[in-house]
Amino acid sequence: MKKGMIFDLDGVLVFTDHFHYLAWKKLADRLNIEFNESMNNQLRGISRQDSLELILKERSTDYSEAEKRKLAEEKNGYYREFLQQMSPLDVSDEVRNILRWLKGRGYQLAVGSSSKNAPFILQRTQLSGYFDAVADGNHITRSKPDPEVFLKAAEYLGLSPFDCAVVEDARAGIQAAKAGGMTAIAMGDAVGANEADYTLDSLSDLPALITKMEHSFKTS
Ligand code: BG6
Ligand code: MG
Repeated sequence: MKKGMIFDLDGVLVFTDHFHYLAWKKLADRLNIEFNESMNNQLRGISRQDSLELILKERSTDYSEAEKRKLAEEKNGYYREFLQQMSPLDVSDEVRNILRWLKGRGYQLAVGSSSKNAPFILQRTQLSGYFDAVADGNHITRSKPDPEVFLKAAEYLGLSPFDCAVVEDARAGIQAAKAGGMTAIAMGDAVGANEADYTLDSLSDLPALITKMEHSFKTS
């Protein structure tokens, strides 16, 4: 039976979270709104426009919808300046080796990201070639924790969601994977131990986990 591995992008394959932070911080400073790294961590997996709402909080009503779209575009302009500097060197050999290892083991690979910049990041880092499918912020109307992006990724792979596992660094992403019926693998410290099906300290631990998961499929 074919199996799929769906990877979140920001914070799992590439470390763009700091760029998101710097870009939101620049906007927040201009608007005189408090914003720090811990608030930025709460925005993992959340769409650009929803993130803006969380940053503005009660000040959201000070702005019209058109103004808020412009603010989100302003942030994206700052963010894209950082993305322009990205190159294949921003992805470790280890990450590439893990993706090749999974392919060699017969897994279909997909990206499932809330980001509308995902195609640009994949192109800048030369990661596109590793994936059979990409579902991103341009393909969805509801962002994580809604499962839409992961369901699209499974559909693009031609697999049932039940035959897919998701690797995620965000609580919203783990909730989305569970809601979509996929196996949820949490990376890092974003979620509590009982929220995901499996947890990893880092992506380096994925091959050992996959080997263990395959073993339990055979023995159960
Ligand atoms: C997610 C990030 O991958 O993409 C979020 O974790 C971000 O922080 C979201 O808000 C949307 O990204 P973009 O690139 O479309 O603004
Ligand atoms: Mg992420």
